[in-house]
Amino acid sequence: MKRTEIAAILAEPAAYAEQKLAVCGWVRTLRSSGKVAFIALHDGSSFGTLQVLLARDEFAGFDDAVKLNVGAAICVAGTLSLTPNASQPCELRAAEITVEGGSDAEYPLQKKRHTPEFLRTMPHLRGRTNTLQAVFRVRAAAAQAIHSFFREQGFFYVHTPIISTGDAEGAGEQFRISAGEGSAEFFGQPAYLTVSGQLEGEALAMSLGKIYTFGPTFRAEDSHTARHAAEFWMIEPEMAFADLDDDMELAEAMLKSVIASVLRDCPAELAFLRQYYDKELLARLEHVCSAPFARVTYTAAVALLEPHNAKFAYPIAWGQDLQTEHERFLTEEIYCAPVFVTDYPEGIKAFYMRRNDDGKTVAAVDCLVPGVGEIIGGSQREERLPLLEERMRARGMDPQDYARYLDLRRWGGCRHCGFGLGFERLVMYLTGIANIRDVLPYPRTAGSAV
Ligand code: 4AD
Repeated sequence: MKRTEIAAILAEPAAYAEQKLAVCGWVRTLRSSGKVAFIALHDGSSFGTLQVLLARDEFAGFDDAVKLNVGAAICVAGTLSLTPNASQPCELRAAEITVEGGSDAEYPLQKKRHTPEFLRTMPHLRGRTNTLQAVFRVRAAAAQAIHSFFREQGFFYVHTPIISTGDAEGAGEQFRISAGEGSAEFFGQPAYLTVSGQLEGEALAMSLGKIYTFGPTFRAEDSHTARHAAEFWMIEPEMAFADLDDDMELAEAMLKSVIASVLRDCPAELAFLRQYYDKELLARLEHVCSAPFARVTYTAAVALLEPHNAKFAYPIAWGQDLQTEHERFLTEEIYCAPVFVTDYPEGIKAFYMRRNDDGKTVAAVDCLVPGVGEIIGGSQREERLPLLEERMRARGMDPQDYARYLDLRRWGGCRHCGFGLGFERLVMYLTGIANIRDVLPYPRTAGSAV
């Protein structure tokens, strides 16, 4: 008999009523009273499970089946009954069970709830828990929604290199690549894992107009926080003939569109996450879709924060970068909404950001969201060649190393802007999960690559 996926059955149980079906999946739970037993079966097609009913007097394999362990992979043939008065809409009355892969008492995920720390020690198994199921399903829906959004807006998805030869952020946080101990440079020059596809993205925007990247990004940053990973995914749109206001408009529209898609596509996952991780999750996501994001300049934000300096581990003053505690205070206490902070002091931002007329600040924007802090960093780019070269030299960078990037300003340079959205930070925001290690299937963080 051809296999039916559990999602199809749960979507419309009445369509399968009293039909003979075959389903395959993993045993989530099994409880038996001796006369009847119930298996919660999960096959990945839906967040929910299908209840399989084993009745001793109907099912010859009862005694063997009740010995099945949590985690076993089985196929069940049986008849679907509607159960309108029970907590689940239907159940499959088993006639035959085939074990594809057994499981035993050593299977580590026997309990209903485990700590995130315990689960992190087994990335190959933790995807079978409800929590990681919910997160990975939201992650997939969000990735799809991002591609759909940009496609609808006329952006081209481009693939910028993962192996890079320059430092896109100029922050010296690159992993060096080598072909093996003591070997010559494979590429004839030093090579690194990319920290950002922006510089290549800018070049592609100068030909395609509107592009975005969505790829892995690497930072050798020794940060041991809940929101920094050494390998993460970043979405980087870049637009020609656009300024900082256009950048914010795009970022806001993108976030709203992705949130609306996830609310539509993942109701069961979000309900679970709300129940166990973040009571405000749904209300917050729904609110964000409808309310405009706040906008404040860095200078005004510092003035708003300074009166609260006694509360902060690091008191803020003009010229210093905002710490997570400041970002969260702004978005969670002052605005209670996502907020764009713009026009940061030149000294704390990357070399490529456009200098403002005040000579002190640059056309930068960070988007801060409650619970996470910074989720997006972007800017209008410096398109004026002399100013860009001056900024590079002031930072000890050699413009020669960025000759191609500078060429873009020499031939047909134009006003342009873009941003980087940290995909894991977005997934944290969408799920209410507080640690970046729990939204990455295989987290790589300083000191750990399990
Ligand atoms: O602010 P960042 O460093 O900006 C860039 O890389 C620019 N080139 C983007 C651009 O304008 N095209 O990083 C952008 C975002 C941050 O806001 C954050 O969400 C995420 O990337 N991010 C990290 N996420 C996880 N772990 C890390 N170590 C991260 N570093 C940055």
